Amino acid sequence: MTRSDRHFEEALKLIPWGTQTNAKRPYPQFEHVMPKFIERGKGCRIWDMEGKEYIDFRLALGPVTLGYCYDEVDDAVREQMKKGVLFSMASPRELELAKLVHEVVPNAEMVRFMKTGEDANLCSVRIARAFTGRDMILTSGYHGYPDWFAVDESPKNGVPEILKDYAKIIPWGDCEAAEKLIRQYNERIACVVSIPYDMNEDTSGTYIKHLRKLTREYGILLVLDEVWTGFRLAIGGAQELFGVDADLASYAKAMANGYPISAYVGKRQYMEMLNTFRMTTTYAGETLSIAAAIATLNIMKREKVHQHINAMGRRLMEGFDAIAKELALEAYAAGLPPAPFLKFNTPDAGFNEQLEYLWFRELFKEGVFVVLRWFVCYSHKPSDIDLTIDKARRALKRALELEPKERSTIRPFYW
Ligand SMILES: Cc1ncc(COP(=O)(O)O)c(C=O)c1O
Repeated sequence: MTRSDRHFEEALKLIPWGTQTNAKRPYPQFEHVMPKFIERGKGCRIWDMEGKEYIDFRLALGPVTLGYCYDEVDDAVREQMKKGVLFSMASPRELELAKLVHEVVPNAEMVRFMKTGEDANLCSVRIARAFTGRDMILTSGYHGYPDWFAVDESPKNGVPEILKDYAKIIPWGDCEAAEKLIRQYNERIACVVSIPYDMNEDTSGTYIKHLRKLTREYGILLVLDEVWTGFRLAIGGAQELFGVDADLASYAKAMANGYPISAYVGKRQYMEMLNTFRMTTTYAGETLSIAAAIATLNIMKREKVHQHINAMGRRLMEGFDAIAKELALEAYAAGLPPAPFLKFNTPDAGFNEQLEYLWFRELFKEGVFVVLRWFVCYSHKPSDIDLTIDKARRALKRALELEPKERSTIRPFYW
C-alpha cells in the first residue's frame, strides 16, 4: 500500500467520496496508476504524494489556463492579501474587474460576480424568470449540482419531483428535440440554458447557433453556460469564437487561473432586473480571487495566450494524427485545439471505448495526466507537447498490444 492509498482509505472514513469534487475521486479502472492526490503543481506539471511527476492535461478540470503557480497571478494575490481579503463595503477592485470582463466578453453590457459556475447559472435563471414572468426553463448540458439542473438524476438525489414540471432537458446537440420542446411549452419558457460546445465534433457552433435562432423566434432568453469555454476557447469564449450573441452568459473556470470566482453577464435590460430583487452572497466580492482574475485577464490581453494555447493544441492534434497513421489505427484528432481528443473510429464502438480507457491507463504510467479531453494551457511549451506525443505513442502501442481478452474485461466508466 502506498502513502496515498493509506491516505485515501482514511479520507473515505471522514469525507464522503474522499473528496469535495466528484470528478476527483480516483477512477477504479485506473487503480494503481491514477494518483489519488496531487500535492503541488508548477507550470504544466503536477506531483502526487509519492513525488511522481506528470505533464498535466486535466488542469484542475479546466480552471488552470495559464499554468500552476503562475507568478504574476500569485504575486497579485499576495499584494492584495496585504490589504485584506473581504471588507464591509465593496472593494474598488470589483469595478476594475467588471471593466475588463465588459471589454473582452461580447454580450457583457453589465457584469456581476459570484463564486462558482453553478452560482452564475442560477443567477441567470432567476433573472430570466423575473424578466419574462415565466416559470419553465430548458437546459442542455451539465450546469452544476443545484436542483434546477439535476431533475433527471438519480431518484434519491433530494430534488423534489415537482421540479420536473418546470425544468426540461434538451439532449445536447439535438436540434429536433430543442424545437419540439420549445414549440410544446412555448410561452411557459423563460430561458434555454445551454453549453455552447460539448468537447465533441460540433466545432463550428451549429447547435448553439440553432438554439439562438429558435429562442429569438419564440421570445425566449438564451443563457450561455460558458463555465468551461469562457476565457479558454478564446478570451471572449464561445460567444466570440462562434459569433453567438447570448442574452445572458455565465463564466467561471478559466477566468482566474484556479482562484474561485465566477461571473454572470448580459444585456443591460436583463441584468438591471437585479436592482429589483435580492441576489447576493457575502463572499462574491472576495478580493483575492478578484485580484487573480484581474491579473489573469490582463495577461490574456497583453500576451498571445490564446494564440499559444491554440498552437499547442494543434501541435498535439498533429501528433495524434501521426500516431494513428504510424500504428495504422482508425483514429483521428478531433475537437477544438484548446480541448482536443483522439477519436477512435473503428467500426467497433466497444473496442474504441476500451482502447481509449486503456490508453489513458498507460498514459498515467508514462507520467501524463489526462481523462477524456486534453486541456491545454499557456505553460505547455512545444517541448512538453513533443514529449507528450512520444509518451502517447508508447502508451497507445502498449494498449494495442494487450491481449484482446484482457481488453474486453475493461469497463469504461467516468464519474
Ligand atoms: C459547463 C459547466 N457548467 C457548470 C459547471 C459547474 O461549475 P462549478 O463546479 O464551478 O459550480 C461546470 C463544472 O464542471 C461546467 O463544466
